[in-house]
Amino acid sequence: MRIDKMLANLGFGSRKEVKKLLKDGQIMVNDMAIKDAKQHVNPQIDVVMVNGEIVEYKEFIYLMMNKPPGVISATEDMEMETVIDLLEEEDRVFAPFPVGRLDKDTEGLLLLTNDGQLAHRLLSPKKHVPKTYFAIIDGVVTDQDISSFKAGVVLEDGYVTKAGELTILHSGIRSEIELTITEGKFHQVKRMFEAVGKRVIYLKRLSMGPCVLDEDLELGEYRELTEEEIQLLRDYEK
Ligand code: URA
Repeated sequence: MRIDKMLANLGFGSRKEVKKLLKDGQIMVNDMAIKDAKQHVNPQIDVVMVNGEIVEYKEFIYLMMNKPPGVISATEDMEMETVIDLLEEEDRVFAPFPVGRLDKDTEGLLLLTNDGQLAHRLLSPKKHVPKTYFAIIDGVVTDQDISSFKAGVVLEDGYVTKAGELTILHSGIRSEIELTITEGKFHQVKRMFEAVGKRVIYLKRLSMGPCVLDEDLELGEYRELTEEEIQLLRDYEK
């Protein structure tokens, strides 16, 4: 790969800016100052330094975000703020995209990556990856709802959902629940509650497969997945 492409990909600036770094002698490859933007490097083997600091090359990026409400799970939008707008430029240069969608008003765990294969397998309906949500429900959630979700409920378009595991944390005129589902139909959690005559008034995703929301992340914050979390995801979707 060309050195200017590699460094531009990693967020060291546009190709033009990288060219200037090269011209200024700020880039070393295997301890030799390199000035030619066309110089080829092998990111796996060659040691590239910018301003005396070793550059770590990676092809893929894996991020965990605590999605805030009011932001859409898309890569771009003419009017609304997207989860990509919340990323630092140094992460955005990897062109990550959200793994699945959360509604605009839903909060919580959203994975973002540029690893299309991993994303595809995590989202494949065949994989039945469980997703757990916390929700506040307008209405009394009952043991009958637990049974209904277990058996599958009929959504308004006639679709019968797969078994969902409902746990009641607090039952009252406003109930608090956790629900684990293995599908990802549009507005699924909200529609499942509508099917039993109740309304979701707050929704937050807690986990997706082996990946659990880091509670240290404030709304709108994100971090890279650890090597261990990446490995868990890779092993999981095999
Ligand atoms: N189910 C919903 O209704 N909304 C979401 O954002 C995710 C699951």
